[in-house]
Amino acid sequence: MDGLTPAENNTSFEWPAAGPTRVPFRLFSDPEIYRLEQERIFRGQTWNYICLETEVSGLGDYRTSWIGETPVIATRDADGDIHVLINRCAHKGALVCVKEHGNAKALTCLYHAWSYNLKGELQGVAFRNGVKGKGGMPDDFDPGKHRLEPLRVATFCGLVFATFSDETPPLKDYFGNAMATFIQRNFGRPLKLLGTHSQIIHNNWKLYAENIRDSYHATLLHTFYTTFKVNRLDMDGGIVLSDDKWHHISYTKRATLDEDREYTKSNVHSASFDNKLAGEQLLDAWEEFDDGITHSIQSIFPTLCLQNTLNSLAIRFYVPRGVDKTELLWFYLGCEDDDEAQTAMRIRQANLTGAAGLVSLEDGCINEFVQRGTTGSGHVNAFIEMGGRDVESSENSRATEASVRGFWDGYRRIMGFAEGGEA
Ligand SMILES: [Fe+2]
Repeated sequence: MDGLTPAENNTSFEWPAAGPTRVPFRLFSDPEIYRLEQERIFRGQTWNYICLETEVSGLGDYRTSWIGETPVIATRDADGDIHVLINRCAHKGALVCVKEHGNAKALTCLYHAWSYNLKGELQGVAFRNGVKGKGGMPDDFDPGKHRLEPLRVATFCGLVFATFSDETPPLKDYFGNAMATFIQRNFGRPLKLLGTHSQIIHNNWKLYAENIRDSYHATLLHTFYTTFKVNRLDMDGGIVLSDDKWHHISYTKRATLDEDREYTKSNVHSASFDNKLAGEQLLDAWEEFDDGITHSIQSIFPTLCLQNTLNSLAIRFYVPRGVDKTELLWFYLGCEDDDEAQTAMRIRQANLTGAAGLVSLEDGCINEFVQRGTTGSGHVNAFIEMGGRDVESSENSRATEASVRGFWDGYRRIMGFAEGGEA
């Protein structure tokens, strides 16, 4: 289990008595809920993805990132240790690092030139002793009391995480065995970054957290998946929930396709398309693993998604930018020992995802449709009973919303909303 200490519910919010099968639309547009999430989730007992170890591989490398709305900096110091520091000068609170990436001997604030070492310790204050004997800091000024605020850091398979809380369990316990094993499958090898991009989506961050867990929509909304038989519910696959339910894995085995007319019976229009890709090499792939899994989406609460489709290996990381705005960042990876043809295949397959991706472009707008559809209906609840009402793994079906219920189960626990109100 996650060892989480649930927050006290000292708000006017009550979760519906039906539990995680009902989700009040208010959660997507209420500024007070959004503020509480920053405190209870992002600055609470969660491990948050920061960056890849390879992005800060050399001495003095730094990379800026975010935990919720809080800006942070990951650095690599002379001992080879990675630090995650809040990107906020101890003097007036300005951002210290303004670039996405860099290499520096010291981190110096632009505003008044306060300077910090790579561990975040204050090492220089401009005009500390005044100018020509006048001004300067008081005699009792103690640089040891003014530093960049450090966070707890842990790494796993080349991924860097940080947490604000001393109470957050060790990273591997936070994942649980099933999640850690699957991260190891995809990321437990020397990796290199092939490319990145980001997009703004106009919806609350939790709609994207639901969306990546929603195996029900994947082959209905995403016609490319169905038409070109990349991922369908009539292939073998399943859903694995973490012990604490708030992380998940959804997986598909493409070679097991069994076209038994379920899609045509259910009027899924893309199933009857008889289209061929003009560039069929887009889906050229090699069998990378011996478990038969050709597509997987893994979520780690709160804002991380790890994806492997054919040979496209990617990290999606989404950052709340306000109650109805989210930035979605994509990182595409290959293996250090890939040959040229394999790298080319991974890059071609990356066309499936991203802002203009053949599969995922629809996600860029569908969550906004929910945001727009639910605005003004805070008192109404979403109905989430596909696959039943339980919050359990589903070994042989992905026609379920079990992992969406799992997200809400974890969310209401950490937010202190677990007690039932009116259904
Ligand atoms: Fe989707």
